[in-house]
Amino acid sequence: MTQAQEEAGSGNYLLEARGITKHFGAVTALRGVDFHVGRGEVLGVVGDNGAGKSTLMKILSGLFAPSRGALIFDGRPIRFQSPHDARDLGIEMVYQDLALAENINIAENIFLGREPVRRLLGGWLPLVDHKAGRDHARQHLDNLHIHVKSVEQRVGELSGGQRQAVAIARATAFDAKLVIMDEPTAALAIKEVGKVLDLIKGLKDRGIGVVLISHRMDDIFYVCDRVMALFHGANFAEAALCDTSRSEVIGWIMGTKEGQGELAHDRVH
Ligand SMILES: Nc1ncnc2c1ncn2[C@@H]1O[C@H](COP(=O)(O)OP(=O)(O)O)[C@@H](O)[C@H]1O
Ligand SMILES: [Mg+2]
Repeated sequence: MTQAQEEAGSGNYLLEARGITKHFGAVTALRGVDFHVGRGEVLGVVGDNGAGKSTLMKILSGLFAPSRGALIFDGRPIRFQSPHDARDLGIEMVYQDLALAENINIAENIFLGREPVRRLLGGWLPLVDHKAGRDHARQHLDNLHIHVKSVEQRVGELSGGQRQAVAIARATAFDAKLVIMDEPTAALAIKEVGKVLDLIKGLKDRGIGVVLISHRMDDIFYVCDRVMALFHGANFAEAALCDTSRSEVIGWIMGTKEGQGELAHDRVH
């Protein structure tokens, strides 16, 4: 491929990663992984425990630097020093352990670290504008069709599903282009799962790219456009949802491909 073709190709993706390798001391968590996601695309990422899913997402969201490999955002090579840099580009991650502060309220969680500021004394005295924060939070939750009693409710009082919704609201409050979610439904009651999945569909409808890590085939087959599988830190398989099946994807997680008796396990030392 010529460089021009390569550039044209990469420009089609919202975020692309090429040849990502990550070592943690003697452990190699990722081995030359290629990845891409488009605007308004929901990509499912599957793989067994330890396959490298969370590590890859932490690299895509700027928390870890790759040992080797390149990231390309909107056709341009990028290098993150911190999650702050990724956020500035509109890449947001909802972590597996959520990272919401329990003892403050919903509005404060949504704006944590990015509070609206009112300047007094000709701009010399910046003050957090709590009222503007509450109003923005309420409006944003309404836009996402997230219903809470009050944005002044403490997060510690919320159910798992409501917390997940607040975490998603937080991730999308500032012009997000890509939202990465690590097992967002794993800890939820069944009746809350559908709401979170519908929120993901709403993000897609607004042109936001979504990466969804999930073990639940129901999640993957309800919201995703495409699914990719990692196995032992490497790309294993991927397909458009319409070209695969639950049983095939479950096979990928275990390291098998249809029509291929051999287990990938047998080839990994
Ligand atoms: N911060 C870390 N330090 C050392 N090893 C890590 C760290 N994070 C992940 N690993 C290792 O990297 C591999 C991939 O882990 P992870 O990305 O969490 O997989 P998954 O999310 O698919 O379960 C595992 O062997 C794990 O023990
Ligand atoms: Mg993980």
